[in-house]
Amino acid sequence: MLDAAGRCFDTLYEMSTSKLGDGMTACVFVVKDRTTGALRACKLAERRAQRHNWSRLCQLMRHESTLLQEIGYHPNVVRWEGSFASCNRLAIVMELVVGGDCQQLLQRHGALAEETVHAMICQLFAALSRLHGLGILHRDVKLENLLCDTSTRPPRVKLCDFGHAVTQRDLMADRQFYGTPGYAAPEVVQGPVWTAKADVWAMGIVMYAMLANSLPFDCEDGWRRPADLSSRAWWRVSLEAKLLLQALLEPQLDARGSLQTFEQSAWRALSPDQRRDEPPAPMRQAFSYSEMSAMQVQQSEARRKAMTSGRAGPLPHAASWTELQLATGTASDAGDAGAGDAGGAGGELWPGPAAAAPADAASAAGAADAPLASLCDENGDDQVMETPAPSSAEFSSIGLMKIVEK
Ligand SMILES: Nc1ncnc2c1ncn2[C@@H]1O[C@H](COP(=O)(O)OP(=O)(O)OP(=O)(O)O)[C@@H](O)[C@H]1O
Ligand SMILES: [Mg+2]
Repeated sequence: MLDAAGRCFDTLYEMSTSKLGDGMTACVFVVKDRTTGALRACKLAERRAQRHNWSRLCQLMRHESTLLQEIGYHPNVVRWEGSFASCNRLAIVMELVVGGDCQQLLQRHGALAEETVHAMICQLFAALSRLHGLGILHRDVKLENLLCDTSTRPPRVKLCDFGHAVTQRDLMADRQFYGTPGYAAPEVVQGPVWTAKADVWAMGIVMYAMLANSLPFDCEDGWRRPADLSSRAWWRVSLEAKLLLQALLEPQLDARGSLQTFEQSAWRALSPDQRRDEPPAPMRQAFSYSEMSAMQVQQSEARRKAMTSGRAGPLPHAASWTELQLATGTASDAGDAGAGDAGGAGGELWPGPAAAAPADAASAAGAADAPLASLCDENGDDQVMETPAPSSAEFSSIGLMKIVEK
């Protein structure tokens, strides 16, 4: 395979057998830059695997390559590094995003903390703003196409897979893509009618999925009934988030919110410090058991006081089951009935009282201590931490650190 300048892929890169993903069009592998030793991702399509679709596939891969170059550098769009072609193989070399895609992240860890979702969705918004500003629609925004670098805190997300993206000028000639089931907006399923609001709808689906660990609509016309935002999984999610989701997941195209609606939403304004342009600070590797205990007690106590005094204040999320129990004095030792509210298989990333059960807080919080086991060494002793105790704002990333450790 050669690139446009006639350079040979095999001279520049060493292919590994380590597979990052398997899409409909291609497989993505890790490759090593032979000069610098840096690792990259390579999306590879082979004629023998796609004999019947080969010419269509060539079109998609070339198109993706062109669009990625047109978009240029953006912190939340996967970076293009080169394209190579031979008569039997096509490859796009991109930056390697460690951590995989958001679908894999949810499969490993279940629903994410609202604070984490906030940071990630704001980045998706930034990527879509760039695209729409250039007159490009992505048309396939979904968890699998949102890569997630979990080595930073908050995680850095990057949009990938531009195979179905179109520029406004090509839109009239290319209306044949019907989107991905579960993510396609009503007017796309019925039309397809492609506008920027189809990406906005998909952004709403992604936000919902991250918070609840499930898609809001489970069949093609599931949107005829409003998305569930009131079941137990949603008790701990802020009203601001729910109002925004209602605006983004509005089936009527004209009434649906836009990127501007998102930008001006109360939810986006919840954590102004997360709107910084500079790259997020590196994530701490772990917290000790005692640090977590202290934070846990502090946080529960503050919440209890605020709630019993009737001044709950601007909580960033709705009260969980345990918080309600604490507020009404009905907490028991039986464990938090709200644990795993959001359906998270691997424990969610929200710093609620159920997330930790230090010895001195167990009776107060009534939480199970299993999630903390990984923070102790083999003898059950605390890990030694050199860094100072984190603020409560940092607390929410504890779950994420479990990802990094894995
Ligand atoms: N740069 C990257 N770094 C890490 N993983 C990646 C990267 N690019 C892609 N992947 C992984 O490979 C998967 C497939 O990539 P991609 O979506 O580009 O392929 P596709 O064949 O176009 O997929 P689709 O089935 O959506 O059409 C992604 O979902 C992701 O898990
Ligand atoms: Mg994909």
